[in-house]
Amino acid sequence: MTIMPADTATKPKWLDDKTQSLMDRAIAREKALSAMLMTYILTGLLFMLLPGTFLGVWNLISISKLQAAEAISPGWIQAHGHAQIFGWVATFILGIGFYSIPKLRKMKPFSLWRAWVCWGIWTVGVLLRWSVTVWPWHWQMLLPAASLLELVAFLLFFITIGPAHSATDGPSKPWEAWIYAVILATSGLMLSLVLQVLESFSLARQGASLAFPHEFDQKYLVVSTWGFLVPMVWGFSARWLTVFLGLRPLRSKLLLAALAANTMGVIAALFGYFALATIVLLLGGIGAALAIGFFEPSVKKPKVAGIHVSFPFFVRFGYVWLVVAGALGIWAEFNGTLSPGIWGASRHALTVGFIAAMVFSVGQRILPSFCGMRVLASPKLMFAGLALLMLGCTLRVASEICAYQGYAAWAWKVLPISALIEMTAVTIFAINLAWTFIRPPVVAPGPLQMYVE
Ligand code: HEM
Repeated sequence: MTIMPADTATKPKWLDDKTQSLMDRAIAREKALSAMLMTYILTGLLFMLLPGTFLGVWNLISISKLQAAEAISPGWIQAHGHAQIFGWVATFILGIGFYSIPKLRKMKPFSLWRAWVCWGIWTVGVLLRWSVTVWPWHWQMLLPAASLLELVAFLLFFITIGPAHSATDGPSKPWEAWIYAVILATSGLMLSLVLQVLESFSLARQGASLAFPHEFDQKYLVVSTWGFLVPMVWGFSARWLTVFLGLRPLRSKLLLAALAANTMGVIAALFGYFALATIVLLLGGIGAALAIGFFEPSVKKPKVAGIHVSFPFFVRFGYVWLVVAGALGIWAEFNGTLSPGIWGASRHALTVGFIAAMVFSVGQRILPSFCGMRVLASPKLMFAGLALLMLGCTLRVASEICAYQGYAAWAWKVLPISALIEMTAVTIFAINLAWTFIRPPVVAPGPLQMYVE
């Protein structure tokens, strides 16, 4: 099918004025949706770069200088984690959700102002949450306010495209497995935000410190990573990656079993049963990878047009990190002594090795076309970003265990290097996406672009 540019196409006879006006409206809507999505993505990139990665690198360099993980303020560590999970990844997910879920569910178009209001409230909430944790000015009032703003923005998203809206045409089909993954992930996000509101109010009432206490933070992190980010990536993987990587059909029952194990693990951690939690989280991760077939060869040619050919390799590498993260969690739990280095390594194997790698790969595969029929600016930069991310993550995970656990003093010198490599990787990713958005679309959106030969 060839799409004809507006100035070369001849208006076909079947196209009456009514159809023409419907097409114009559809194109205008698509342009508005793309502009909204690009705003969410650019906002996420800004959170990723400055409040997220820059603060993370700063923290790691300070820890390495003092050779002590507990030497820096827990508030700064939590501010970094929040900017990465909620400022970066969740902002991407909200934008992609507003753009794609109504299309996938064939819903009636929603009023776009809702997506813009959600963006405004969410951005102010996340920025306020980060700023007040770094500079605790009037924090007893601003910390709960920021948490409430984030929850309100999420609820606006949820009522706009959530389960209350049914499909416009015909009886609804039974849900596919990826939909369950997305629903569980959305519930994980909602639970994280509710927990955050409750804890912020509790801290404000006590008035002693604005940092989440360690015990609560450990549970909260399991909910926001394994309970929210992980099933969301599984949902995206089951929906899109089977096709993009040319994998054989999804083993739906195995994916549902993996989701059940993951949910059980998150609930167990929430109630403090970390031994059980770590075991079932690992089993869930292995189950999901097997269900989608990442560790098997592709049966069809992977769809890599416009992106780097290494895309399938990095997606598989990401799933290896998921399994490594789960295994390190078990080691940390059963190690017998305090294991900050192994917990930290497990967390970054998950967040950098798995989540960030999947966002880099899938994001650069789908976002250019979602954002107004563009193509990725540079497949070579895509490769460079992913290769550096994997290198930085490998150095980070290995040296964090050796340094923090006191196994090898030289590892303290490797940690800052790993941080700088990871920072270079995320900067390359941000440049490639921003450059893609600045370039004109391959097919200029216009009323006649839908005439086909
Ligand atoms: C890009 C380079 C990154 C660097 C240099 C970095 C650095 C750090 C450091 C130094 C800590 C303190 C605890 C520890 O040492 O383990 C930390 C914690 C954390 N990081 Fe990262 N990080 C990076 C990327 C990410 C990404 C991409 C995510 C999530 C998508 C993330 C999420 C977290 C979380 C959730 C915590 C724990 C926060 C808490 O204790 O509440 N980090 N990071």
